[in-house]
Amino acid sequence: MSVRLALVVIAGLFITAQCSQEVIKNLSTHFAKPLEDCKKEMDLPESVTTDFYNFWKEGYEFTNRQTGCAILCLSSKLELLDQELKLHHGKAQEFAMKHGADEAMAKQLVALIHGCSESTPDASDDPCMKTLTVAKCFKAKIHELNWAPSMELIVGEVLAEV
Ligand SMILES: *[C@@H]1O[C@H](CO)[C@@H](O)[C@H](O)[C@H]1NC(C)=O
Repeated sequence: MSVRLALVVIAGLFITAQCSQEVIKNLSTHFAKPLEDCKKEMDLPESVTTDFYNFWKEGYEFTNRQTGCAILCLSSKLELLDQELKLHHGKAQEFAMKHGADEAMAKQLVALIHGCSESTPDASDDPCMKTLTVAKCFKAKIHELNWAPSMELIVGEVLAEV
């Protein structure tokens, strides 16, 4: 491969990753919209908001079971779950595409969550803990793809909403 072609490919990958980061940020923002309602309804502590704020931050560990409950509540409000509290693939894909993902990306996101869900044992029988474990796995996969939005993007968004 010529140097020039290699540069074009690298630039292309970089732009794609940046674009995906924007989409992930967009999805996260829309996903978290009903958070205040969930907090009120389920009497969730402030630490849940902190976990959401830092969600994509590399190295930030969320271990709060309540954050799992919040994610479950948000998914259910957005009608992304089926009756067994499992991700509804069609609806999740639709949600991702509605907020900026193209079809390939939407499918990949659903596949990632599905894979994480399959690799997480539901031995504990606690849907909140299970959701938290799936969320951690999903976060790790998104970081591997370099799709995690940077803190500047997130902070910019938060400031824009104030
Ligand atoms: C974010 O989502 C909105 C719809 O909620 C969409 O119109 C917009 O294009 C999306 N932005 C990006 C960067 O994907």
